[in-house]
Amino acid sequence: MKGIILAGGRGTRLYPMTKCISKQLLPIYDKPLVYYPLSVLLLCGIRDILIITSPNDLETYKELLGSGNQIGVNISYVVQTAPRGIAEAFVLGKEFIGNDSVTLILGDNLFYGQGLSFVLESAKSTCKGATIFGYQVGEPRNFGVVEISEMGDVISLEEKPALPKSKYAVPGLYFYDNDVVEIAKSVNVSKRNELEITSVNNIYLRMKRLNCIVMGRGMAWLDTGTPQGMLQASQFVETVQMRQGLYIACIEEIAWRQGFINGIQLEALGRELEMTDYGKYILTLI
Ligand code: TTP
Repeated sequence: MKGIILAGGRGTRLYPMTKCISKQLLPIYDKPLVYYPLSVLLLCGIRDILIITSPNDLETYKELLGSGNQIGVNISYVVQTAPRGIAEAFVLGKEFIGNDSVTLILGDNLFYGQGLSFVLESAKSTCKGATIFGYQVGEPRNFGVVEISEMGDVISLEEKPALPKSKYAVPGLYFYDNDVVEIAKSVNVSKRNELEITSVNNIYLRMKRLNCIVMGRGMAWLDTGTPQGMLQASQFVETVQMRQGLYIACIEEIAWRQGFINGIQLEALGRELEMTDYGKYILTLI
């Protein structure tokens, strides 16, 4: 399975912070935002990762994450020249995906909670069709909304509906079989001129190949598109890390636990950062 992080976009809700830097390079407490979606792909056991960025930020992402070799994965990069929609990830990523299945995660989504690895494993093992998630929110109107039957089947899917049919928002994490490449190519642009991910998912729904896994209330899903969202996410990360002494989205730790790198490599990564609590934490793991 391949993994894509969609980290383009304009980030207009974060202006002036994002006028000259990608949202996903800004910090959430002690690490760049992009570490959080990257850590989800690593937890899935995915080692071939494509980062889609806007043209101005490409070099900065390369400087931050390079080839991925240091954490035992392969990272490649593709530019999205304008934010033409989430589903464009599969058009831009066609060659990278090849004949594989693919997981897409939005660059500004943060997931954390007990059972996350289990949820990811269940989604990954459903190799046919598409798997999305449902997450209960107080204000579903701002999101894609999924309506689910008592049996757990998807009944409907709507993008930012005025009258939501359920309280389940669809977070920015999606698993697809290889058909998504052709399906995304066939989708028409929406009224807001974007290739909508909801259109892709609706095609899977019509083919009766759309699965939905409900993320329980013990899971945190935060999106960081506004200054308030960024501050809340930073406070959440700080609180959990200080209380437990365990780090959220420490990519070096996850790579080591997954067996992508060994203890010697982990120690070298920790030494590079030992002037920080983040680096010191890595060194305590060995
Ligand atoms: P959004 O938050 O919808 O858009 P944005 O990041 O440009 O922010 P704003 O609304 O403030 O202008 O995007 C969600 C995520 O998806 C974010 O990580 C950026 C990414 N994205 C792209 O990379 N390309 C796209 O075409 C779109 C629509 C989103």
